[in-house]
Amino acid sequence: MAVSYKDLGFVNTREMFKKAVAGGYAIPAYNFNNMEQLQSIMTACGKSNSPVIIQVSSGARKYANATLLRYMGQGAVQMARDAGWNIPVTLHLDHGDTFELCVSCIESGFSSVMIDGSAHPYDKNVELTKKVVEYAHKYDVTVEGELGVLAGIEDDVVAAKGIYTQPEQVEDFVKKTGVDSLAISIGTSHGAYKFKPEQCTKDPVTGILVPPPLRFDILEEIEHRIPGFPIVLHGSSSVLPEYVNIINTFGGKMKAAVGIPAEQLRRAAKSAVCKINIDSDGRLVLTAIVRKVLAEKPEEFDPRKYLGPARDELVKMMIDKNEHVLGSAGKA
Ligand code: G3H
Ligand code: 13P
Ligand code: ZN
Repeated sequence: MAVSYKDLGFVNTREMFKKAVAGGYAIPAYNFNNMEQLQSIMTACGKSNSPVIIQVSSGARKYANATLLRYMGQGAVQMARDAGWNIPVTLHLDHGDTFELCVSCIESGFSSVMIDGSAHPYDKNVELTKKVVEYAHKYDVTVEGELGVLAGIEDDVVAAKGIYTQPEQVEDFVKKTGVDSLAISIGTSHGAYKFKPEQCTKDPVTGILVPPPLRFDILEEIEHRIPGFPIVLHGSSSVLPEYVNIINTFGGKMKAAVGIPAEQLRRAAKSAVCKINIDSDGRLVLTAIVRKVLAEKPEEFDPRKYLGPARDELVKMMIDKNEHVLGSAGKA
C-alpha cells in the first residue's frame, strides 16, 4: 500500500538546500544498507545536530529488501525523536535509473529521489528527468538530476574517463526538467580508487598521494549561470588513509586508494554545493575495524563484538565530517 513520506516523519530537500546554500555548508548524504550503518548515521547527525539525507541505492534496496528499508528509515526518524534529536531527515533514492524505480520509492515513503539519466544522450536525459519530476512533484517529493558523467564506475554506467558537466547545458536542463537539484561532474568519482597513482603527486612530508584538484572553474561557471541553484557532489569520499592502513595492517590488500582531500570538499561546501555524497569512507571504516577486532580477538564470534566497535568508529568519522568538512554540524 502506498504511503506518504509526510506520515513517516521525513522532509523533502527544498528547505534544507535553501538554508545550506545561504549558509555556506553542505548536507551530508550518507548511504546505508544495514542497521549498523543507519544507527551510526542517525547517532552522528543527532549528536552533531546536523540535518541529514539517508540514502539508498537500488543495490541497497535489493540487498536489504525494499520493505524492510522503508521501515528502517521510519524507525530512524523515531529513534532520533526518542533521543531528543530534532533534526530534519530526508529519505533519498541514490542513482535511480528508471521512472518505475522512482515511482516505487515514492510510493514506499521516500521524500526525495535521484533520477540519474547521465548515461543517456542529453535529450533522453531531459525527457526522463522531466517525467520523474512531473510525477514526484505531485507528491511534493524533490528530485535530483545529473549532468555529466563521473569517472570510474557509476553504478552500471562504466566511463573510462569522466565527462565534466558542460556549464552551457545547465540552464537549459534545469529549465526544461524542473529538477530541484543538480549533480555535476567536476573530477570526483565513485569508490576507493578515484585516481591512479601516476595522476597524483606525493606530499614530501607525509608521503600521502595528492590527487589533481577538482575543476572549481567549472563549478564557478555553473554557479554563475544558475545562481543559488542547489548543486550536488557525488563520489566525495576522502578515502581516509588511516582506515586504508588499518585494513592493510590486518590482512587487507588495498593499494593506492586515493580520494578527495578534505580541504577541497570544504571549499565546495562553502559554494552552491549543498549535498555531498559519502559512501566509501563508511565502508572503509567498517571493514577496518571488523578486520582489526577479528585479527586481535580470533576467538570472537558474536557479531556485536566486532560490528559494535565498527559502528562506534563510524559515528566518530561522520561527526568529524559534519563538523570539519561539510560544516553541517549545528545547522539542524
Ligand atoms: O554511488 C554509488 C553508491 O556508493 C552506492 O553504491 O550501488 O554499491 O550500493 P552501491
Ligand atoms: P563515494 O564512493 O566517494 O563515497 O561516493 C558515494 C556516492 O556518490 C553515492 O552516490
Ligand atoms: Zn553517486
